[in-house]
Amino acid sequence: MSRFIILGGIVLHDCIMGCSIIVGGFFGDEGKGKIVAHVAHKDKPSIISRGGVGPNAGHTVQVGEKEYGVRMIPSGFVFPDARLFIGTGVLINPDVLKAEIEMTGVEDRIFVDHRCSIIEQKHIDLDKADEYLSKTIGSTGTGCGPANVDRVNRVAKQAQALPELKKYLIDVPFEINTALDKGETVLLEGTQGFGISLYYGTYPFVTSKDTSASQIAADNGVGPTRIDDVIVVFKAYPTRVGEGPFGTEMTREESHSLGIEEFGTVTHRERRIGGWDGKMAGYSAMINGCTIAAITGIDNVDEACFGATEYSQLTEKALAFLKQAEEDIGVPIKLISTGPEMTQIIDIR
Ligand code: IMP
Ligand code: MG
Repeated sequence: MSRFIILGGIVLHDCIMGCSIIVGGFFGDEGKGKIVAHVAHKDKPSIISRGGVGPNAGHTVQVGEKEYGVRMIPSGFVFPDARLFIGTGVLINPDVLKAEIEMTGVEDRIFVDHRCSIIEQKHIDLDKADEYLSKTIGSTGTGCGPANVDRVNRVAKQAQALPELKKYLIDVPFEINTALDKGETVLLEGTQGFGISLYYGTYPFVTSKDTSASQIAADNGVGPTRIDDVIVVFKAYPTRVGEGPFGTEMTREESHSLGIEEFGTVTHRERRIGGWDGKMAGYSAMINGCTIAAITGIDNVDEACFGATEYSQLTEKALAFLKQAEEDIGVPIKLISTGPEMTQIIDIR
């Protein structure tokens, strides 16, 4: 939400305040990590907290020449002034978490909710050995499904039971709601995408949890009335990894001829690539309660847009695409990503 601070009749500055959620509008890998990184640098949240399933998600963030892939810590870690949380609903793999803390150097500002469920080796073994999950569904094999089963069966371990996590434990909902009471800005990061939501996706070819904005709020213990903006990220050419229906899927020949080739951050599987799906975009925007749409990969629509940072640099071809996409989504597109690097973006919020 934009707020104008008016003092004595003078507009001091406008800023983005309150609580925003960023989620994926298609099948995941829409470039949420990049959008989060940009929004964090611009809006300067005091807290960036992650919702979603668990370490099955891989978020890529590129800052300058450096590229990071994270699966547990919020991709907003590249913004150095925020505390980083992992929300109550998220599954934690302690080994992945520790390795990422070391890689990113966020030891002194990362916290996890004491009630987070833990992924153990047995969950990973089960995920990989289960023919239905590994072959038919095409699970990432990271143990998330079986760990969520244990959580529902109420036999899963919680973060507070592990001495190695003791120093990171916090009450995430309390911290976030208190920050919001003080007028601070909070960013909630979703994972995966709308199309693989357990409830709204292409069941049974889905992940083990809902992935919509409401779920991301619930994962962090933030009530629906406290959310100011929902940014839904759509990819100009959506992708899907794993099995399941993909209405606008192209052949490998088609996508390669467009110069698009992508590989998964977690599993390194080659992603399936499709054309813009306006119907899915609209439905996804509706269920997510989208207030701001973001489009990534506009440089795949027209190469000439690569790296643009101003709206005026967009070509006619790109503008025509955006016009159609905006009609389909039904909400203004205010963030347009023009390349993988964090600063390659047009922000007209
Ligand atoms: P699982 O969540 O690992 O059980 O995988 C279930 C399905 O969701 C598979 O098709 C995965 O490829 C897909 N999936 C899970 N997480 C992600 C993600 O972060 N991005 C894209 N696809 C995902
Ligand atoms: Mg990903």
